[in-house]
Amino acid sequence: KTTNPFDLVLFGATGDLAMSKLLPALYRRDRAGQLPADGRIIATARRALDRESFIARIDAAFEQYLEADERTAADWDRFVARLEFVSVDADTAAGFDDMAAVLRGREDHNRVFYLAVAPAYFVGICQTLNQHGLVTDRSRVVLEKPLGHDLESARAISEQIGAIFSEDAIYRIDHYLGKETVQNLIALRFGNMLFEPLWRREWVRDVQISVSEQLGVGGRADFYDRTGALRDMVQNHMLQLLCIIAMEPPTDIGADAVRDEKLKVLRALKRLEGQDVLRNTVRGQYRAGAIAGQPVQGYLEEEGVPADSRTETFVAMRTELQNWRWAGVPFYLRTGKRLQERGAEIVVNFRDVPHSIFGVTYGAGQPNRLVIQLQPDEGVKLHMMAKSPGDRMQLRPVALNLDFAEAFRQRPPDAYERLLMDVLRGRLTLFMRRDELYAAWSWIEPILEAWNDAGDAPKPYTAGTWGPAASSALLAREDATWHEER
Ligand code: BG6
Repeated sequence: KTTNPFDLVLFGATGDLAMSKLLPALYRRDRAGQLPADGRIIATARRALDRESFIARIDAAFEQYLEADERTAADWDRFVARLEFVSVDADTAAGFDDMAAVLRGREDHNRVFYLAVAPAYFVGICQTLNQHGLVTDRSRVVLEKPLGHDLESARAISEQIGAIFSEDAIYRIDHYLGKETVQNLIALRFGNMLFEPLWRREWVRDVQISVSEQLGVGGRADFYDRTGALRDMVQNHMLQLLCIIAMEPPTDIGADAVRDEKLKVLRALKRLEGQDVLRNTVRGQYRAGAIAGQPVQGYLEEEGVPADSRTETFVAMRTELQNWRWAGVPFYLRTGKRLQERGAEIVVNFRDVPHSIFGVTYGAGQPNRLVIQLQPDEGVKLHMMAKSPGDRMQLRPVALNLDFAEAFRQRPPDAYERLLMDVLRGRLTLFMRRDELYAAWSWIEPILEAWNDAGDAPKPYTAGTWGPAASSALLAREDATWHEER
């Protein structure tokens, strides 16, 4: 089904996100027949380019980011026909009159301003749009993270943008919410009777959320060194996953029903402060090592990173939720760069059986474990005990394995495809509301403060491992281990 006609104004159109994710996502949805004939993409960037050279750039990017069989001449021509290019400069407001000319006469169309630029420009761009009379009552704005550096800056951005766009016209992207498996987690929890009764402290021993990357900081050292893993990954992606896994059943899938429940989870997070932070978190920083057999340099040697940087590239933590459903259940979070494997998963470890009837032949019984995998492949695995064939009662762990690509025989869409279509359709469920953003920052801040006060350096770990040993020790304290097999 196509959306209503629209004008999508893309700021930062020559940037990496636009070229690698946003434009390919729009192209793919266009190919799937979901964009109406009267849907335009007005790309903007600071550099003085003409439309032809901008299109040549997209062509080169698509070569890299799309599969060859996705690129047909007819699809390309249709897509290119939607594109306009306007050079604008947010600092001087140059080019905004040209943009106004492109948009004129289309006030009754849905209008989307997608700000794929550094957050320092968010407010300025919105104000300039407003001064040029470009913010209509059918306008929406899409903001990319980082939405602030701390609670105060997040508030400042939100309040100033909130003076121009109403809350339900603001789409704060957390691309993890667009990942197919995350939505499948909602389907798994609330579309089935099986799991929900067990989804609580009586039956769950612990929950693990782990996002591991093999990549280092690459060309983003300047941004990353001011940010670190806690702000870059935990404040947004990991907490959003935690919300989806832990929330109460919403009354419907509408934006506020879901976001109300997520907010309650964030508010139930046990606040870590002072010594508690140091006891329940591990910070790490990678040293030289090898990824998939190739030597890689350490974080401090990366170009643009100060030699004495204390920025964490790894964080592991233990937290709890203070509510009836989850009280006392450890939620372990872990994320890092330059780890052994690329993967993202949520693991629910159930409690052990209360009594084994099988005696010694039972072997080491393993409790049930549900693994929800977001990356690299998308699927769900339920580990359980079964009898192994033979004349003895010998139990063995086996897994029920649901591989989404195989089950549905199609490529799972990229997160941005879903999220961009939701913006065009006006669906806010998968976007963060302002109060969620504040709640997440309020929880993160005392952790940053305690680290800062402690003043020590993060623990070194060799690139290509699973992070500092202290990360395993954090779980070993409670006889738990990170789930690391694939
Ligand atoms: C981004 C972070 O939000 O998410 C990056 O800024 C990180 O540092 C990326 O690499 C991970 O996303 P994905 O989809 O590749 O897991």
